[in-house]
This record gives sequence, C-alpha cells and structure tokens, in this order.
Amino acid sequence: MTRLAIIGGTGLCELPRVALLESLELDTPYGVPSAPVQRLDWQGRELLFLARHGQPHRIPPHKINYRANLWALREAGATEVLAVAAVGGIDTRMAPGDLAVPDQLIDYTWGREHTYADSADAPLLHVDFTAPYDRAWRERLCAAARELALPCFESGTYGAAQGPRLETSAEIARMARDGCTLVGMTGMPEAGLARELELPYACLAVVVNLAAGLGPEIITMDDIHQALELGMGRVKAVLERVVGEV
Ligand code: HPA
Repeated sequence: MTRLAIIGGTGLCELPRVALLESLELDTPYGVPSAPVQRLDWQGRELLFLARHGQPHRIPPHKINYRANLWALREAGATEVLAVAAVGGIDTRMAPGDLAVPDQLIDYTWGREHTYADSADAPLLHVDFTAPYDRAWRERLCAAARELALPCFESGTYGAAQGPRLETSAEIARMARDGCTLVGMTGMPEAGLARELELPYACLAVVVNLAAGLGPEIITMDDIHQALELGMGRVKAVLERVVGEV
C-alpha cells in the first residue's frame, strides 16, 4: 500500500479541511523531527503531514533536522514524499505566485547533516541521484496544475542555497549561469535523504519573489507574504486534486 507524506514549508504549516487522526511524537536515531508527524484524513484518504519549519514556524532552513524528518516519516509509514517549498524565481518569465515542479537540482548548501551514511557501522551509500525528483509524481502535479489552469513551470533546476539570508545579485547571476531556474533554502539535503531512504520524492514550489537582482531593488518580507498567500492557495488546490487521485 502506498502512503503519501506531505512536507509543508513556509506558508503551509497545515492543510485545509482535514481531520487529524493522530499526532505522532516520534524520536529517531538522528534526533527529533521539526514537529509531530500528523496522520490525517483528507477527502477520505489517509496521509501524513510534517511541518518542515515546525508548528508554529520557527526553525530556520540551516537548522532543520532533515535526517530526523525523513526518518520519522518513513517510521510513520510514508512510502512517497511530496515537498512544498517557497522559492525565488531565477527564470525571468516567472512571476510571484507561479508554481514550479523542478526536475533537477544543484546543491550549494554546506555544513548540514546530509547523509545517513556517516558512521563506521552504517553502510556506505553511493545512491544514484541522476534524476533527483520522482517522475510519476512530477507528472501528476503538472497535470493537476494544467487541469486547474494555474500558471506552472513544468520543469526547472532548483538551486539549494544555504540561507537564512537571501542571495546577492552576483550569487544569483552565478546560479543562472549554472542553469538554475529556482532558488530555495530547504531542497537539500531533503531530496538526497529521501533518495537514501528509497522514498520517491517530488517538489511543488511556489515562486514568492524574483531572485536577487532580477526584480525590485530589494526583496521585502511583505512582498514575499503577499505572493505566499496567492501561491499557497494554488498549492492547496493542486494538492486537493492529486490527493483525490492517489
Ligand atoms: N532565495 C532563496 N530562498 C528563497 C527565496 C530566495 O529568493 N525566496 C524564497 N525562498
């Protein structure tokens, strides 16, 4: 049996119209996850939900215990993971509130616990990561956005930045030269750890600002919050549709 887990990011600490079945306070060999794993009933489907930054939102991207989060979801029975994330747009065709479903990523983070293969007794894992995101889930997300006539970039390269500060315009110019079309702070090591645990993983991203140097002179939290509201409304509509299908 498949069981979907949704990891909610900034702007998505909870899902609408759900019934909470159980709140699981899990401990893992890697510490405690960001929040209890919630077992939910959404439209008659059972799924798992974890608030990446805690509930309420309090853990910055570089302090998230990604290993505990993915481990706890697997312990709770997750067989596939859908990650929701707020991002900056590097592709200049993007507008705040647009959705994106990346198919590639580049990891610029540092100093994060990024693997389960880091002790002498752990098996050394050189997992294949050629295609970091699950194709079937990407297609489902893109189809749902299309059916809902929502603006959605159906591919793209997610650049995982360290944060918590936003980038300089030179950093974004470099990421653009590297081929990144999106920039966020939480995509790694989350995707890599999911792969190590053999959990199919996909990302539904919401563009909440144009990345540094590409839009207004400075990026304000007010602008980000406005775009988040629009974008997360769209995310919930897409999720409602794909959850109804699985
Ligand atoms: N950069 C990095 N992460 C982000 C951004 C950004 O511009 N916007 C939202 N998350």
